[in-house]
Amino acid sequence: MTVRKLHLLGSPVLRQRAAPVAAVDDEVRQLVDDLFDTMRAAKGVGLAANQVGIARRVAVVDVGEDDPPPLVLVNPRIVTASDERETAEEGCLSIPDIYGDVERALTMTLEALDRDGRPYRTQLSGFKARAVQHEIDHLDGVLFLDHLSAVKRGLLLAKWKKARKGQSGYLKEVTPEPAGEL
Ligand code: NI
Repeated sequence: MTVRKLHLLGSPVLRQRAAPVAAVDDEVRQLVDDLFDTMRAAKGVGLAANQVGIARRVAVVDVGEDDPPPLVLVNPRIVTASDERETAEEGCLSIPDIYGDVERALTMTLEALDRDGRPYRTQLSGFKARAVQHEIDHLDGVLFLDHLSAVKRGLLLAKWKKARKGQSGYLKEVTPEPAGEL
């Protein structure tokens, strides 16, 4: 199990457009496994490679449902997205304790490669569709803050700067609470 350090808002890699994966090899599989480990340790529901400092098009999503199982997203692509949209609150492991209401397509068709490099296509809706759109945004250097109004974004950025006062650097060690702790 390898929990990697998280890159926080301000780290340039979060604004990079990640490069496509040419072949799903052992290195990519290791990255997928580390993303799951890091996401779970940080109690997130999704994580993109940019967030651990690697600008490659790899992400994972696990919203805690067994059907469909946790998603591995290598070179993910939104094939179709519904005109019907939904607004709900989002946060991001790279911007801890900051939340905002984001409008997203309610349903979408996803195409990606799995952990074995096999292409798959699946229909997603609701929270899972939201999580996948959020992670694909990361791979394009986009953060949920970018979807908010300038006023709302400004307020949240001010809150973020205040909370970060006195701290330097953009790396966060993920230290999961011991099991059983509240
Ligand atoms: Ni995020």
